[in-house]
Amino acid sequence: MDDLRQKYLGLIAEASDEAALEALRVQAIGKKGEVSLAMRELGKMSPEERKEAGPRLNALKDEITSALTAKKAALGDAALEERLAAEWLDVTLPGRPRAQGTIHPISQVMEELTAIFADMGFSVAEGPQVESDWYNFDALNIPGHHPARAEMDTFYMARAEGDNRPPHVLRTHTSPVQIRHMEAYGAPCRVIAPGRVYRADYDQTHTPMFHQVEGLAIDRDISMANLKWVLEEFVKAYFEVDDVELRFRASHFPFTEPSAEVDIRCSWEGGTLKVGEGDDWLEILGSGMVHPKVLQAGGIDPDKWQGFAFGMGIDRIAMLKYGIPDLRAFFDSDLRWLRHYGFSALDVPTLHRGLSA
Ligand code: DAH
Repeated sequence: MDDLRQKYLGLIAEASDEAALEALRVQAIGKKGEVSLAMRELGKMSPEERKEAGPRLNALKDEITSALTAKKAALGDAALEERLAAEWLDVTLPGRPRAQGTIHPISQVMEELTAIFADMGFSVAEGPQVESDWYNFDALNIPGHHPARAEMDTFYMARAEGDNRPPHVLRTHTSPVQIRHMEAYGAPCRVIAPGRVYRADYDQTHTPMFHQVEGLAIDRDISMANLKWVLEEFVKAYFEVDDVELRFRASHFPFTEPSAEVDIRCSWEGGTLKVGEGDDWLEILGSGMVHPKVLQAGGIDPDKWQGFAFGMGIDRIAMLKYGIPDLRAFFDSDLRWLRHYGFSALDVPTLHRGLSA
C-alpha cells in the first residue's frame, strides 16, 4: 500500500496537464485501477486483516483523489497565469495608426455645399470641362465682341487644320451647366453645379484651374427675395454660425438682370475671420435673376418662367472657412499640407451631424 501511495502521489506531482491527470486517475482508482483491484482483494482476507486493510485502502483512495483535485487546480492556475502573461495589453500604447490618406479640403467643401443645398431641394448637375464656345459664352449672352470674353483669360483648345469653327475652350466658369441643365430638364428646376474651371492666371489668389459652384433655380415666380433667403441659409450653414448679414451690391453680369454681388458681414480682428460680426465685408459670390435671353438659349420660355442664379468660388470659401492662406498650396500635392488641412475619409459632412465636425 505504501508503494502504491508513493507511486501515485509522485506521478500526480509530476503530471504536466489535465489529460495526464485523468490517465492517472483511471490507472489508480478507475474501475480496473490498481487501488480498486486491491480493494477487491479485501473479500479474500480474514476478518481481522480486512478490518486493518479496509480503512487504510479507503484512506489511500481519498488521498489520491484529493491529490488529483489539488493538482488539477494548480495546473489551471498555472495555465491562467501563462495566458495572462501572454495576452498582456499595454493600454497606454497609442491607438491604431490613422488611415494614411485624407480628403482634400476642396472635396470636403464640395460635400458640405452638396449637403446644404440638398437640404433646400437642390440636386447636383454636371457639365464637361472642355466646353463649346456656344455654351461657355454665347448662350450666356456673352457675344463674340463682349469684353467679358477678353477678361476671362480663356484657354482655347487646338483646332484641326482647316477647321474654321470657333475653338472649344476649357470652361471659364460653371455657368454653362445652367444652359445644359435647362436644355435637358426644362423648368422648373433647382440645381447646383460644382466643378473645375480654368483661366490663364497665376498668383497667390489665382491658379489656372480652380473650382466654382453654380446655382440655378427656375419657377413661375421666383424673385430676388428667394435668392437672398437661399444664400443666407447657405452662408449660415456653411460657416456654421447662427446669424449672418448679407449685403447685395448692384453689379453687372451678361447672364443676369438685375445682377448683384453678395458680401457677408465679417471681422478680421486678430487676423482670424469671424463671419456675422464686425465692420468688414467679404465678397463671396455673383448672382442675379437669369437673363431672359439665357432662359431662351436653354429652351425655356421667359414669359412663363423666371429664376435666379449664382456663382461662387469654392477654393476661396474653403480658404476662408479653414484658414488656408495660399490658394496655390491646394494643388501642390504636398503631403505635409494634405495631412494638416485634409479631412478624415470617414467623416462625411451632413447637416444633422455637423458639417466639419
Ligand atoms: N460666372 C460668373 C463668374 O465666373 C459668376 C456668376 C455670377 C455666376 C453671377 C452666376 C451669376 O450664375 O448669376 O465670374
